Amino acid sequence: MSIKKIIAIGSAKGGVGKSSITASVALHLSKNYSVGILDADIYGPNQHLLFDIIEKPSFTKSNERKLLNPIIKKNIQFSSVGFLLEEEKPAMWRGPILSSTIKQLFYSTQWNDLDFLFIDMPPGTGDAYLTVLKDINIDDFILVTSNNKLSISDSLKTLTMVKKFNINVLGYIANNLIPNTQSNNKNIFNSKKINYLGYVNFDSKIYNFDTNYVPDDIIALSQKILSTINKI
Ligand SMILES: Nc1ncnc2c1ncn2[C@@H]1O[C@H](COP(=O)(O)OP(=O)(O)O)[C@@H](O)[C@H]1O
Ligand SMILES: [Mg+2]
Repeated sequence: MSIKKIIAIGSAKGGVGKSSITASVALHLSKNYSVGILDADIYGPNQHLLFDIIEKPSFTKSNERKLLNPIIKKNIQFSSVGFLLEEEKPAMWRGPILSSTIKQLFYSTQWNDLDFLFIDMPPGTGDAYLTVLKDINIDDFILVTSNNKLSISDSLKTLTMVKKFNINVLGYIANNLIPNTQSNNKNIFNSKKINYLGYVNFDSKIYNFDTNYVPDDIIALSQKILSTINKI
């Protein structure tokens, strides 16, 4: 198992498109790279729904350890608690169990030589973030925000937290969730020094997640992410 780059995609704000953008970028990059997604949103996993994963994972025993074989869809390797919980059954767990579940999803999945592992983060700045930033050796963080003062305020909290852990921030993505408006606003964070990776406009193919189609905004964004990584 080797993973070249681990990139967490997050924001303290819910509903800004973290899961949709993670899935879309992974879908595009999976055409030329070996890509995986870890769904760290334990209370609200979505990746298995976006990719219509209904099968249950198999496990392999290795040196007395039980390892989850990632489920592969669209050439992407997935690990998620969504595979293991029954639909409509919430994970009603306190922080320590949430943290150990995230660590288990990462360390006990038999990832098969990945160029990129994307971690789809939940909202908040709590246990999931502490676990991913502290206990998993991630390389980079990408912030997702919409151009709205509530989202911007929450995103700034995320940024402060990520920087506290000395994690490299590749930049932010502006997700324009409002249909029939175009946005390429680069000044969301005004004076704050954070690299702008690109925007994603509202797209019905993202809204109804179509795994056979990648919007142009996502292609441009993925290229920018790749070029930013290569500059480091
Ligand atoms: N660019 C977009 N175009 C259309 N719908 C979007 C876009 N980004 C997100 N959505 C929709 O907005 C909602 C929230 O997105 P989601 O990815 O679940 O956000 P988060 O993971 O941050 O909670 C979902 O219904 C999703 O389909
Ligand atoms: Mg999500």
